[in-house]
Formats: sequence, structure tokens, C-alpha cells
Amino acid sequence: MVYSAHDTTIVALQLALDVYNGKQAPYASCHIFELYQEDHGAFTVGMFYRNETGKDPYPVKLANCTQDCPLEDFIRITKSVIPDDWAKECQIGSTLQDTKVIVGLAVCSCLLFLLILLLLIVLCRQKSQADGYRHVINEGEDQS
Ligand SMILES: *[C@@H]1O[C@H](CO)[C@@H](O)[C@H](O)[C@H]1NC(C)=O
Ligand SMILES: *[C@@H]1O[C@H](CO)[C@@H](O)[C@H](O)[C@H]1NC(C)=O
Repeated sequence: MVYSAHDTTIVALQLALDVYNGKQAPYASCHIFELYQEDHGAFTVGMFYRNETGKDPYPVKLANCTQDCPLEDFIRITKSVIPDDWAKECQIGSTLQDTKVIVGLAVCSCLLFLLILLLLIVLCRQKSQADGYRHVINEGEDQS
């Protein structure tokens, strides 16, 4: 998996993994995760950071693990920064709140529509009145 994003987003990932090198991530940088199945069947995870066009990606090693980090160890070491409950951590509201918002918007739209209708009616009335009576300014009359 090749992860390329805004510099701050890549750095956030690297900070979470505790592998940030302290420098601003250059344009088009990417953090690479590779999953291998070794000859004896076990899985390992390798990470690389590509931040320089003319150079091979730099190997990235988790603290307390080897470059080819056994998958179980990788999972254990990164467990504290992996969300178990997306909805809870992202504070995604229940569907009840969604329906409340929709009802609220519908009510507001209706009120706005009625208000506009009322405004139009008032404006039309004023216009028809203005057609009926028109103040004529006589010459010599004070205009104020
Ligand atoms: C790229 O990353 C390596 C390893 O972290 C670092 O030594 C190097 O200075 C970085 N280069 C740039 C241009 O950020
Ligand atoms: C690495 O191991 C040391 C000693 O066991 C421990 O104190 C530290 O928290 C570990 N670091 C990580 C990132 O797991």
C-alpha cells in the first residue's frame, strides 16, 4: 500500500507510527507498507518512505521491531493508534440525530418558503396600491 497525501497527513501517519524524521515531507512523498509471506509461511510487514525522486525509498523501521516486522508484532506495536470503533472515534452521530437534522431542515425550509410568500404578497399589494394612488408633486411645492 502506497500512501501519498498532504505533507501534514503523511507526517501525522508517521508520528502515529513514531517513525517521523522531523523534516517537512516534500511534494509527492509517500509512505509505503509492504506485506510479505515468508518462505516458512509467516507474514511480515516492511515500510519505506519515498521522499527523494533520485533515490530509492528509505527503509522505515518501527521502534522495537526489525525492518521485516512480524505481522503479529506490527499489530501489537501499532494497536494503540488503530481505532477499534470508527463511529465512536469519529463521533459519528446516530441515525436518530440525522433524522432530527432532516426534520429541522424541512421545517426551516417551509418557514422560509412561507416568509418569502408573505413578502411577495405584501410587495404585490403595495405595488397595486401604488398604481391606484400616486403622489403628484406640484411645481413649487416643497419636495421634502
Ligand atoms: C528523506 O528521508 C530520509 C529518512 O528519513 C532522510 O534522511 C532524508 O533527509 C529525507 N530527505 C528529505 C529531502 O526530506
Ligand atoms: C519498546 O520497548 C520498550 C522496552 O520494552 C518500551 O518501554 C517501549 O514503550 C517500547 N516502544 C514501543 C513503541 O512499543
